[in-house]
Amino acid sequence: MLLLTNKFISKIMASSSSAMVCLAMAYLLVASFGSSNAQLTTNFYSNSCPNLFSTVKAVVQSAINKEARMGASLLRLFFHDCFVNGCDGSILLDDTSSFTGEKTAVPNNGSVRGFEVIDQIKSAVENVCPSMVSCADILAITARDSVVIVSKI
Ligand SMILES: *[C@@H]1O[C@H](CO)[C@@H](O)[C@H](O)[C@H]1NC(C)=O
Repeated sequence: MLLLTNKFISKIMASSSSAMVCLAMAYLLVASFGSSNAQLTTNFYSNSCPNLFSTVKAVVQSAINKEARMGASLLRLFFHDCFVNGCDGSILLDDTSSFTGEKTAVPNNGSVRGFEVIDQIKSAVENVCPSMVSCADILAITARDSVVIVSKI
């Protein structure tokens, strides 16, 4: 199991896809805290990334300003990420010659959209807090902000 896991992580780390690296980071984070008795909190990033929420919200707001439908698309992207082993950011993984992921699975291919907005958010977040925030958390925060912003249109 451990060997399999390490092989999986090496494979991901060798990939050039930032989504793959992000998933691996999220996995390592979960693996290192998995056995603790950690509770979910809304202020998890308040010290490590105090500008996280404002950074995400600014990009989501800008994307929805350009196209109101994007709000619904980002919520749906998060929803579809939650299929297959939970809301872990795995929908962001690009297929490779040896890997077929969720992005091109029948319910998602050409239908789930907004990946470029998530890429913009990830870049913005990496600028303010490098290697700190998981892609899974970015998807969750983005979905929340989308709902709030669209509800005010
Ligand atoms: C996904 O959609 C593209 C474009 O329609 C198609 O070329 C590709 O074969 C599809 N991939 C899968 C796995 O269905």
